Order: sequence, then structure tokens, then C-alpha cells
Amino acid sequence: MSQNEAIKMETPQMSQPNESENILLIKGLHKRYNEGKSNEVHALRGIDLEVKKGAMMAIMGPSGCGKTTLLNMIGHLDQNSGGEIHISTIDANKLSDGKMTAFRRDNIGFIFQLFNLFPFLSAVENVETPLLLKGYNSGVAREQAKMLLRDLGMGDRLYHNPLELSGGQQQRVAVARALITDPAIILGDEPTGDLDSTTSAEVMTLFRRINKLNNQTFVLVTHNRWIAEKCDYIVHMIDGKISNVEMGPFEEDK
Ligand SMILES: Nc1ncnc2c1ncn2[C@@H]1O[C@H](COP(=O)(O)OP(=O)(O)OP(=O)(O)O)[C@@H](O)[C@H]1O
Ligand SMILES: [Mg+2]
Repeated sequence: MSQNEAIKMETPQMSQPNESENILLIKGLHKRYNEGKSNEVHALRGIDLEVKKGAMMAIMGPSGCGKTTLLNMIGHLDQNSGGEIHISTIDANKLSDGKMTAFRRDNIGFIFQLFNLFPFLSAVENVETPLLLKGYNSGVAREQAKMLLRDLGMGDRLYHNPLELSGGQQQRVAVARALITDPAIILGDEPTGDLDSTTSAEVMTLFRRINKLNNQTFVLVTHNRWIAEKCDYIVHMIDGKISNVEMGPFEEDK
């Protein structure tokens, strides 16, 4: 995706680690909701995790075990209650709020199950929004959004609103919006959750293609074993802890 290279030139990004380096390092991570109150929930109970740059990792586990909480912590959408999260060499806990927002915007892409597309904006407007928020010239932002959507096979749907698109097409818009700023890490919470199996397979093929092309790192929460096996390894969680890690490859034709 050549436009990503162009974006990279204009955006202060974190230092690019070597292939073998960890892009994400988590040590002793805890999260308590409603801390100190009678309804306190100890959602993460000491998570240690290393993710290498360019890896595709799946997180699986029963409902309520803390998967979304962990993803939110990695994305720094919420404060943790103890432990460390380093993205590349940056300890995001030490950033000011303003710098944190910019860091998150520039380095992390989010794909949520419900896509969170703006319903009254067209596909291309949804995708260009992160660039406009970064202060890009509107003509440049529009061109890059169009290029990426075309690259994702959405060239004939640029000006449709989300409600005029199928689930798989909306998903591609959400993927484009997450990728347009060329984030080092892409976080997905059930990113194929509502899609039929054919579209889910298309989305996973797309993720793998992007992963190979740009060496971007994916962390995907899923309940679906078949989806998880498209990743390089699977982290299993139970009751706020990692219970085991299965290393792939799970398939021969990846
Ligand atoms: N904002 C919150 N306030 C209080 N408790 C919360 C909050 N968010 C999550 N929890 C609790 O934290 C625990 C972990 O929730 P989390 O959403 O991370 O689970 P999950 O593994 O993503 O589950 P699912 O597979 O159902 O999405 C649960 O017991 C949940 O009830
Ligand atoms: Mg969840």
C-alpha cells in the first residue's frame, strides 16, 4: 500500500523496531473495575505477554474472562490498575493525556465488532476522517482514502453510506479506517463477529495480506477457533489470566 509510505513520511512515528523485537510488552498487568467499592471486579489478574513485531495473535477465552479489557488496556482506552504496557519502546503510562491521544491515534488502529462507522458519512468520508483529525489537507486525505478503499475492492462503493453496504463491505470500510494512518498495531475485538463464514474468510485473508505486506501487528479477540487458527498463535485466557499459549502454524497453506 504505497500511500501508507507517504503517510509515514509526514507523521512522527515511534522508532521502528527490528523484526525480532517485541512491539508489545506487558508485565504484571492488573485491571480492577470500581476499585475499592463493593462491586469491584478484578478483571485482569497479572497478565504477562510479549508480542513480536509483525505477529498475528489471537486471544480466546470464555465470556467475561477479560479479553476486551485486555484489548482496551493495550489500546490505552482505559487506565490499568497496575503493571506495565510498553508499545515498542514507549511506556505509554508516562505520556501526558494529550501526547497519549496522539500516540494512540498514530500507532494503534481499532476495529470493533460493531464497526462504529459514522452512519451519515459515506465510505470515503469515514475512511478519511482520521487523516483530517491529524490535520491533513482535505484533498490529500480524500485521495488516500479512495486509494485504500479501491485497494480493498470498494472502488465502486466510495460514496455509499454504511446502511447501503453489506456487512462485509462495512467491515472493509472499518478496516480501511483503521489502516489509513498506517498504525503499527491493529486491535480487533471480534472483528468478524457478525459476518458469514465466506466474508469472515475474506476479512482474515485481507488481514494476512496486510500483515505480510506491511509487517503490521494484529491482536484479534475471537470466539471462533477457525479464525484464531488463521493467526500465528493463540493466547487462551481464563478468569483474568493467561492459561496457555498455542503456537502455530495451524494450517499449511498460510
Ligand atoms: N466497565 C466495567 N465496569 C465493571 N465491570 C466491568 C466493566 N467492563 C467489564 N467488566 C467486567 O470485567 C470482566 C471482564 O470483562 P470483558 O468485557 O473483558 O470480558 P470478555 O472476555 O471480553 O467477554 P466477552 O467474550 O463476553 O466479550 C467481566 O466480569 C465484566 O463483567
Ligand atoms: Mg468482550
